[in-house]
Amino acid sequence: MYNGLIHLHNFMRWVILLLLVIAIIKAFVGMTANRPFTKGDKQVGLFLMISANLTFLIGLYQWLAGRYGILTTSLPPGTELMKDSFYRFYWIEHPLGMIIAIALISIGRGQSKKNILDIVKHKRSFWFYLIALIVIIATVPWPFREAIGRPWFPGMQIQ
Ligand code: HEM
Repeated sequence: MYNGLIHLHNFMRWVILLLLVIAIIKAFVGMTANRPFTKGDKQVGLFLMISANLTFLIGLYQWLAGRYGILTTSLPPGTELMKDSFYRFYWIEHPLGMIIAIALISIGRGQSKKNILDIVKHKRSFWFYLIALIVIIATVPWPFREAIGRPWFPGMQIQ
């Protein structure tokens, strides 16, 4: 069951990245071509929010009670949290970065509900989504990252 959750958490990263890229391109085209903010724009934002929140919930469970959960494990003797790149990443950097990214996604999507010009909606969501994308790329445990790297896709082996 826990492996299934890790696989889903791993896979959802790709769903979020894909939806973010689509949302950013749509917002960019919308703001440069001064297009109306459509139902399609709204829907991409909604799916993005749902995916980000699902990934957050799984992550929260892993963080609290997973194989390196803060409630279920303790630091190896003699280890200092901030000096250990593995625990610092999974206990602090990854959750914090992702929570910031999810908050940015929520604010970006919230623009669609505001009583503002469509071009302003596009502009604001563009920037919030773009920064969220950068933060996610920076805090995903990519396979090439030393000590913390994880597979590209669920079930794949790390070389
Ligand atoms: C946009 C949101 C997020 C993305 C894209 C993301 C991405 C990932 C990826 C790709 C992995 C590696 C999975 C694997 O081993 O195959 C991972 C692991 C992990 N993530 Fe996230 N994550 C997100 C949010 C969060 C949040 C909010 C938390 C904590 C509150 C969290 C906690 C963890 C933990 C603890 C692991 C290690 C799990 C384990 O190996 O037992 N993640 N995450």
